[in-house]
Amino acid sequence: MVNLQTQLAGCKMASPLVLASGFLGLDWASLDRVAKSGAAAVTTKSCNLEGRDGYSNPTVLANENYMLNAIGLANAGIEHEIDEISTFKKKSQAVIIGSIFESSPEKFAEVAKRISTAKPHLIELDLSCPHLGGKGFENYKDFASDPKSISEVVKATKKATKIPIFAKLSPNVPNIGELAKAAESAGANGITAINTAGGMLISADFQKPILSNKYGGLSGPAIKPIALKSVYQIYESVKIPIIGTGGVATGEDAIEMLLAGAAAVGIGTATYHRGIEAFKLIESEMQHWMEKNKSGSVKELIGKAHE
Ligand SMILES: Cc1cc2nc3c(=O)[nH]c(=O)nc-3n(C[C@H](O)[C@H](O)[C@H](O)COP(=O)(O)O)c2cc1C
Repeated sequence: MVNLQTQLAGCKMASPLVLASGFLGLDWASLDRVAKSGAAAVTTKSCNLEGRDGYSNPTVLANENYMLNAIGLANAGIEHEIDEISTFKKKSQAVIIGSIFESSPEKFAEVAKRISTAKPHLIELDLSCPHLGGKGFENYKDFASDPKSISEVVKATKKATKIPIFAKLSPNVPNIGELAKAAESAGANGITAINTAGGMLISADFQKPILSNKYGGLSGPAIKPIALKSVYQIYESVKIPIIGTGGVATGEDAIEMLLAGAAAVGIGTATYHRGIEAFKLIESEMQHWMEKNKSGSVKELIGKAHE
């Protein structure tokens, strides 16, 4: 028998598999279903103080290699999220990660303070949406591309809550290790990497960009090499745990993410390709790989590609 257990900032998990933010779970019942389907932890859709409508259609395009989205962080706002997380905590034993975003360090701190009343196990700061704009976000700049901005947001949220904070970083930067270091120095308890990679699609037929927002974020199998490089570089730069996310679709992909240095593995677009069963399938593929390769535990695989 292999041991799949892992830990994130003192939070014990039955396996490394985490539902990434933005997929399947918009309310407590669907998050609970994902947990019952094999995710050891679930991340909520990112929320902000007032909520957002998001962009008009088309917002998502997908094929077997990737998904491109510019949903625009549509969400119902912090009060709704507090209710969903509180109910989830009453009904499920799984780890829940509350994801938040805002337009300034002060507002980030306010959402962190409010979401803490629902007692999620961890809070994830979405510092890295590649396509945010619109009402209240007219002058939004991606916090994740600047070490000083990351540091300000992490410091402000750390003051506002005692719950461990994970900083979610962007691959759309020259040196992600340096940015992870800034988050760690500011007090972050962990890093989630990566968010989507910036991208766009143009229709030859209509001779126009396809997404209504023109630009979007790329996810799924096509970004796995970017995610692996990011996690590998972050592991060399910080000591705090990493939720390695991006393009994981099979058990072997998840193993590669652990070898790069991830302590847990985020799964998003694979739920579109393989359905809610993705977690059980990936878990049994991981077990199979570990048995075949005489590897007894997840713990011994974390960061092994650096040896
Ligand atoms: C449709 C969609 C919605 C997403 N929404 C969020 C979000 O609200 N907050 C966030 O931090 N990341 C969001 N993401 C990014 C994912 O959590 C994840 O970082 C990214 O998709 C890479 O993982 P994957 O290749 O396994 O999907 C979203 C991605 C997609 C495709």
